[in-house]
Amino acid sequence: MAHPIRLGVNIDHVATVRNARGGVHPDPVWAAEEAIGAGADGITAHLREDRRHITDGDIERLMVVCRKFDTPLNLEMAVTDEMLAIALRHRPHAACLVPERREEVTTEGGLAVAGHETRIRPVVAALVEAGIRVSLFIEPTLAQVEAAHAVGAQVVEFHTGRYCHGDEDARQVELARLQAAAARASALGLEVHAGHGLDYETAAHMLAIPEIRELNIGHFLIGEAIFVGLAAAIWRMREAMDEAVNGPEEGEPIVIDL
Ligand code: PXP
Repeated sequence: MAHPIRLGVNIDHVATVRNARGGVHPDPVWAAEEAIGAGADGITAHLREDRRHITDGDIERLMVVCRKFDTPLNLEMAVTDEMLAIALRHRPHAACLVPERREEVTTEGGLAVAGHETRIRPVVAALVEAGIRVSLFIEPTLAQVEAAHAVGAQVVEFHTGRYCHGDEDARQVELARLQAAAARASALGLEVHAGHGLDYETAAHMLAIPEIRELNIGHFLIGEAIFVGLAAAIWRMREAMDEAVNGPEEGEPIVIDL
């Protein structure tokens, strides 16, 4: 069944746990298969420059699994020649260009597209030319949206970390920024995605923004999987998202007991 809002499951942190012991278990590719079986609409993986979680071999195997199940793979990548060459070799369904600093714990902010158009435009063009859908992971500001459009991106993914980690006042401010940026992006013909730090509650909040077509969620789902299993965490997320869009199903309880 096609879902009104797609759920992309980021499996990076399965690899984080695997790499803590240097072995092969738990396998992020197995997690991808589980996620697809549980109804994920896409798989997202970030091949970082320092290979701290996902490895080149994982990407190779993820490509095979995603092809087998006809599921889009969204490769998150820094704007570097090395990553561009890898993306062009594998040709995933989509590439999401993200900022990357070696010392950061996670992707701490959006890509600065405004002001760096000359560097980003040819990378976007090469990916699009290869048939890869290009998304730019940006802060929800009008300037970044305009710049993303100007460099030829097809999609923008808004960084929701500030919303998820903010207090009530900060959330109000951030929600207004997200709404305005989503409206502008959509008016420019860009598809709107969102991600970072989302959980059952904040994912549902994001879907009050009508332009959002896809959420990409990783850390929370993998953390939940420790307690309830990955499939159950994905089902519950799916339910939270569907209810945020359609309201609760008649006769169905709003909260699911797992
Ligand atoms: N989207 C992008 C572009 C990201 O870089 C990340 C983090 O790797 C996510 C979504 C998912 O964030 P989280 O793991 O906090 O759910």
